[in-house]
Amino acid sequence: MPETIISASILNSDLSDLRGTAARVDNSGAKWLHFDVMDGEFVENITFGSSVLHAVKPHTDAFLDVHLMVTHPQRQIKLFAEAGADMITFHVESDCEPGAVIDEIHSLGVRAGIAVKPATPASAIVPYIGKADMVLVMTVEPGYGGQGFISGMTDKIHEIRALDQDKDIEVDGGINGETVKLVREAGANVLVAGTYLFRSDDMTAAVKSLLG
Ligand code: DX5
Ligand code: ZN
Repeated sequence: MPETIISASILNSDLSDLRGTAARVDNSGAKWLHFDVMDGEFVENITFGSSVLHAVKPHTDAFLDVHLMVTHPQRQIKLFAEAGADMITFHVESDCEPGAVIDEIHSLGVRAGIAVKPATPASAIVPYIGKADMVLVMTVEPGYGGQGFISGMTDKIHEIRALDQDKDIEVDGGINGETVKLVREAGANVLVAGTYLFRSDDMTAAVKSLLG
């Protein structure tokens, strides 16, 4: 199994203080910072673009983990690569040819992830698993932080882990001290957490409880 990593999602952090958030995350033991990019079309919500990542980059040592929830991922790749993204993950359900998107991300020297929404079966990403550096299994409907974990997703995680023992499998949505046990047992190793970390009084302890 690959290393267990915590990716702190800034979506529900104090957006008026991203520099403070970056420092808090760096000190917490979470190695990745998760950027939820929403375009108002793939999902109804709109969040932030590459300029925000570029602004945060000098204030953190974290690995910058970009989750594109956009209809046209190809329009964003170069922008996020130039802004300093370390990983760009796009949705298999978006309007694109996934193999070509992965190639383009790699051509810019960035790691590539492919994401699936809760209703999309694992079979949809099977043709791309070999090429992608990471698979992201959504454990809530994309769009908002603070939603409840969809427990049926553990079967999908199991299925993908059975296909590849070494691949990074990221889970995103509703991860806390309880649900983490289910996803880790199913084979996930990159754990996105937003609400659970940012609502805790002691983020270091919260990160430890996910790694524990
Ligand atoms: C949902 C986002 C998640 C979200 C997770 O569309 O992709 O990254 O921020 O937040 P929590 O941990 O609050 O479910
Ligand atoms: Zn996300």
